[in-house]
Amino acid sequence: MAKTIFKSLPEANLERRRNISFNFNYDEILIPEPLKDFAKGKKYWIHTYGCQANYRDEEIMAGILEKSGFCHANKEEDADLIILNTCAVRENAEQKVYGKIGNLKAYKLANKSAIVAVCGCMVQQAEVINHINHTYHHVDLIFGTHNILDLPTLLNEIITKKIKIVDVKSLPGDIHENLPSVRQSNFKAFVNISYGCDKFCTYCIVPYTRGKERSRKMDDILTECKELKDLGYKEVTLLGQNVNAYGKDLNDGSSFAKLLDEVAKLGIPRVRFLTSHPWDFSSDMIDVIAKHDNIMKYIHLPVQSGSDEILRLMGRRYTSEQYLKLVNEIKTKIPNIALSTDIIVGFPNETYEQFLDTLKIVREVKYWSAFTFIYSPRNNTPAAKIKDNVTPKEKNQRFQELVKTLEEVIGPINDSLVGKTFPVLVDSVSEKNDDMLSGYTEHNKLVHFKGDKSLIGQIVDVKIVDSHMYYLNGELINGQN
Ligand code: 5AD
Ligand code: SF4
Repeated sequence: MAKTIFKSLPEANLERRRNISFNFNYDEILIPEPLKDFAKGKKYWIHTYGCQANYRDEEIMAGILEKSGFCHANKEEDADLIILNTCAVRENAEQKVYGKIGNLKAYKLANKSAIVAVCGCMVQQAEVINHINHTYHHVDLIFGTHNILDLPTLLNEIITKKIKIVDVKSLPGDIHENLPSVRQSNFKAFVNISYGCDKFCTYCIVPYTRGKERSRKMDDILTECKELKDLGYKEVTLLGQNVNAYGKDLNDGSSFAKLLDEVAKLGIPRVRFLTSHPWDFSSDMIDVIAKHDNIMKYIHLPVQSGSDEILRLMGRRYTSEQYLKLVNEIKTKIPNIALSTDIIVGFPNETYEQFLDTLKIVREVKYWSAFTFIYSPRNNTPAAKIKDNVTPKEKNQRFQELVKTLEEVIGPINDSLVGKTFPVLVDSVSEKNDDMLSGYTEHNKLVHFKGDKSLIGQIVDVKIVDSHMYYLNGELINGQN
């Protein structure tokens, strides 16, 4: 069995540090010659779990691999290199990954020279690396969220020295520009505007796995967006764990409101952004969103809980009253806004009354959609140390009750869309029916309608004919815009 070289291991206490500077790096990524020789004719496959930041990382890894000479496999079984790009935000995300790693044992037995790698947020935890090393001997490479650009060097060492490698650094994280990238869509793109998170919500592992909050320079972001516009992209989503805090660390007057205004002025048909923390949401931002028709009138504004005491224990830095005040300002200035949210039920010791406050805020805000989660303790986070007296059964019941309340709120909103016509960016052929297309409205509602697949990537008018909880059915009105 190949020897494992431990180049670096994550350290929770280092991941907490924030008083450390980071660098901007504009250097080109260099590919070692032996790797280029090895990669000729070889194929890669990447499985990505989790959020949009991970999807963007996949595109960058694909760019690095193609620059090294690999090409994309048509199916997983054909791949010579499989990378699992993982998520650590909840335990069930991790269980899925362990299941997948287990399944890859047979693949590795059948393809002895193949390389299996695991990267992403999950392996930023020392105990996960330990578990993988002890249980899954067919994993050749484990690398962290700060090591993506080391991929060519790491692969080169694995093939030339016939070793296994673990390299997971705990860094604040640098900012690298000019990265190679293979975008998964030629009409919708994610653009990172900032990395990491400094909010340290007490339940959340992201500030530890993704490092310090750091913003890209405004000019670099605008250059990327302009390139996408020139390539004909129809939609750009600006990405950050906390987009509203954009620019605060640059100390050059940059802010998210300014950035959003400049991106909108480029004239990309659809501009979106994800995710907004209520704490940093400024009135200037609301004005910019209201001002530009091409900024989609959809804001994902995680509330997490409606109880002030739970919000305090979560470290969210706002009360339900402050949240509602913000919602009110948004709705007053942007009357056709659709709000969506994230909600956690069953935070340690949440009482039933506190849970009812969450249902209350759901009814009051009238969300257009919501992502709902049962609290999942994450190692090394402050909330995981709290002794919890809420049983799993109670948590499940609350979860069901929350889903029911959301259905009562979202159902009438969806019904009210029937008979109206909306521009829809056509995404793909519908998963269930080859004759049907799927796309999204400005408000991020999924719509299925009959049409030719040549319309994929176009914005077309669709009249809504009936509504369901998680999608709408429509009819194409006038072909293509
Ligand atoms: N348990 C449950 N949900 C969580 N989230 C983040 N951490 C946890 C956790 N430990 C949810 C939050 C966040 C979303 C991306 O995932 O709602 O907004
Ligand atoms: Fe996690 Fe809170 Fe940061 Fe969001 S804002 S990534 S929930 S710590």
